[in-house]
Amino acid sequence: MSRTTVSNNSRDGSAGSGGQNNDIYNYVVLIVDIVVLVIKFWVSIVEEFVKLFVARAEANVSGQFVLITGAGHGMGKEMALQYASLGAKVICWDVNEQTNTQTVKEIKQAGGTAFGYVCNVVKREDVMELAAKVRKDHGFINILVNNAGIMPCHTLLEHTEQETRLMYDINVLGNLWMLQAFLPEMIERNEGSIVALSSCAGLFGLPNLVPYCGTKFAVRGYMSSLAEELRLKNPQTNIKLTTIYPYMIDTGLCKNPRFRFPSLLKLVASKDAAASIILAQRQGLEEASVPRHFLYVEKAGRIIPKKAMRLVNDFLDTYVDTDKK
Ligand SMILES: NC(=O)c1ccc[n+]([C@@H]2O[C@H](COP(=O)([O-])OP(=O)(O)OC[C@H]3O[C@@H](n4cnc5c(N)ncnc54)[C@H](O)[C@@H]3O)[C@@H](O)[C@H]2O)c1
Repeated sequence: MSRTTVSNNSRDGSAGSGGQNNDIYNYVVLIVDIVVLVIKFWVSIVEEFVKLFVARAEANVSGQFVLITGAGHGMGKEMALQYASLGAKVICWDVNEQTNTQTVKEIKQAGGTAFGYVCNVVKREDVMELAAKVRKDHGFINILVNNAGIMPCHTLLEHTEQETRLMYDINVLGNLWMLQAFLPEMIERNEGSIVALSSCAGLFGLPNLVPYCGTKFAVRGYMSSLAEELRLKNPQTNIKLTTIYPYMIDTGLCKNPRFRFPSLLKLVASKDAAASIILAQRQGLEEASVPRHFLYVEKAGRIIPKKAMRLVNDFLDTYVDTDKK
């Protein structure tokens, strides 16, 4: 229904019967809009609630091109191997040629299809140039995984200017350059999936990770903003965005994890994390944490007073210790 407009005539009191009719029409439109909103609002709440208990369909990725940044190590490597085992053709990007080549080799040895490219995602020109080459060589990239990231871990005042800038360049700007390179074709074809690695550090503020938390909150912010931009541009958009919030994963990135209850909160194996991320992408989830329940903890935590939440945090005593020791 069209938006309600109040005519100038009715505002300055010079309305004739035409102006009054216009007013009545506008109020009727407004009431209909409100009724439709209330119905759709509750239907969507019930729908989303029901979906929590129903197994979601998983998109078939066989034959699709998946581009993963940071594919040479950790979760990027695991995702590359697992996407390939699902029949996807994996395009591996990493700044480290040796580890990236190793990932491609392992995929090929297992009978999969993979192509390796060296790229520093910080360098926008390189990203654009390589993206054009990849499109020329392989065509449309169906799934883009913005995974490459670094995590220096010490107090804010111990962070050097150089490492802070580099962290924002890789963890945030590098992601945006990748989007600017691959999103236009997704928009043109109205299809595609984008996965971005935020972190639990994009859900909660954590000591020793002040700049890193900033980068991961930024990932959460740009993905949420992009979802709105795409939806408003095209309400029928088929481009799926998935933001991932991993807890501590056993890749070596998180050097000094501290757990009071290791049996309850422990490092997640990178294989399991990769499987969980791929599942979230294939199910078209907008957001998913690894493990899954963390996102609900965060949502519940937001309505609890900060003072009370801090008591729980202190009790759990689960943090990342400085890497300066
Ligand atoms: N490991 C964790 O506990 C954890 C938790 C939450 C979120 N994350 C996030 O998940 C992502 C992957 O983490 P991981 O633990 O697998 O990392 P990792 O260190 O194991 O691997 C990162 C990969 O990115 C590559 N890389 C780094 N800088 C790059 C650049 N400028 N251009 C291209 N490639 C580059 C590295 O060479 C490496 O192969 C990161 O964004 C990280 O912040 C990790």
